Amino acid sequence: MALKITVIGTGYLGATHAAAMAELGFEVLGLDVVPEKIEMLGRGQVPMFEPGLEDLLRKHVAGIEGSTGRLRFTMDWAEVAEFGDVHFVCVNTPQKHGEYACDMSYVDSAVESLAKHLRGPNLVVGKSTVPVGSADRLAARILELAPGGGEVELAWNPEFLREGFAVDDTLHPDRIVVGVRSERAEKLLREVYATPIADGSPFVVTDFPTAELVKTSANSFLATKISFINAMAEVCEAAGGDVARLAEAIGHDDRIGKKFLRAGIGFGGGCLPKDIRAFMARAGELGADQALTFLREIDSINMRQRGQMVELARQALGGGPFLGKRVAVLGATFKPDSDDVRDSPALNVAGQIHLQGGQVTVYDPKGMGNARRLFPTLGYADSAIEAVRGADVVLHLTEWREFRELDPRALGEAAAARVILDGRNALDPELWRKAGWSYRAMGRPTA
Ligand code: UDX
Repeated sequence: MALKITVIGTGYLGATHAAAMAELGFEVLGLDVVPEKIEMLGRGQVPMFEPGLEDLLRKHVAGIEGSTGRLRFTMDWAEVAEFGDVHFVCVNTPQKHGEYACDMSYVDSAVESLAKHLRGPNLVVGKSTVPVGSADRLAARILELAPGGGEVELAWNPEFLREGFAVDDTLHPDRIVVGVRSERAEKLLREVYATPIADGSPFVVTDFPTAELVKTSANSFLATKISFINAMAEVCEAAGGDVARLAEAIGHDDRIGKKFLRAGIGFGGGCLPKDIRAFMARAGELGADQALTFLREIDSINMRQRGQMVELARQALGGGPFLGKRVAVLGATFKPDSDDVRDSPALNVAGQIHLQGGQVTVYDPKGMGNARRLFPTLGYADSAIEAVRGADVVLHLTEWREFRELDPRALGEAAAARVILDGRNALDPELWRKAGWSYRAMGRPTA
């Protein structure tokens, strides 16, 4: 009989995982403790912007006309325990307030609420990003709490999905990593992922700590790549080089590769910043803090980029205070194709300038609602051209396609001064210069 799957937590990770599991042909029951989320998902609506996710949900959510009916949602732990053979834990692990460490309270409480009802045989699969050692601890906790005892097992299966590509990354993962303690657990997970495995996704089997570390080390590596190129941007600024050409040139070496070498205002979002901090905190607890001190530098290079963008804007306005200056900000989300503004470098820059007295007007294709909620005192406009109207300087801070397709001529007529700063190295300098703009990008004083 086909496996039945449950997904605990319906944020980015969980909602996407639940829909993807239904797409792979399984009966799926999703659980969340927030009633509004369950109601929305039950209507086939997604609480965030993620390309393709709503369509996938509507294709499978029970009760929607024409759907397969394979996907349902509930708030009832007993129902979830009764229903599922394999239970995926997808709740979030935010940074603790005032500390680097990660807050495990949602994972702990999800595992405990579920375990109490599990009579076995079941597999609980952790997907959340956790400090190494958590799986070991949670496995013991499950054994303590589950009425099914040893019949209830744990596995760790980190998730590598990127916002904006969540559906595709989940259905066609570039690798599947499973930390397991038994052949039974491995066999079950091979069954769950049979389709992507058949399509060629590599399946890597490890122990618990390795599986947990794969996730945090992958994110640390990505963060390091971005901060490396941003460090080169700083040197290019000082030496009069062009970091975009430099990145292109070193990227031809396929040991280095072209990806994740776009210099600019740096990384943000709900993952990279908090994951590298939690990793440092955990290494400290393990007595291996020296191994990760370099991540502190990665973090500070990254945070410095935001301040440098503010300084570039100040220089572009003549070097004095921002007081009374009108600043247009294109982009609020931490990356394009997402409405996520968590730790967004764009909003951070906008906020800094606003707090220094600048009159900032922000426009973002999808992030306006979230940005307004987080930063209600900034000015907001309904379109790029409205944000730019009357501006003394324009800052391009999130590389949405919509911004690359803007007409610099039309914008030039709306702006008070034709000065654009590209904080993402994503616009075409020639195009803007031809339309009479002064174009300046980070790490490219000569470009
Ligand atoms: C990241 C990991 O990529 C993913 O595998 C993991 O599961 C979750 O964390 P995500 O947070 O969606 O995914 O963002 P990502 O695409 O990695 O981008 C992170 C940030 O880095 C963004 O703010 C982006 O603008 C920035 N970035 C990316 C750069 O500044 N330069 C680059 O070259 C690439």
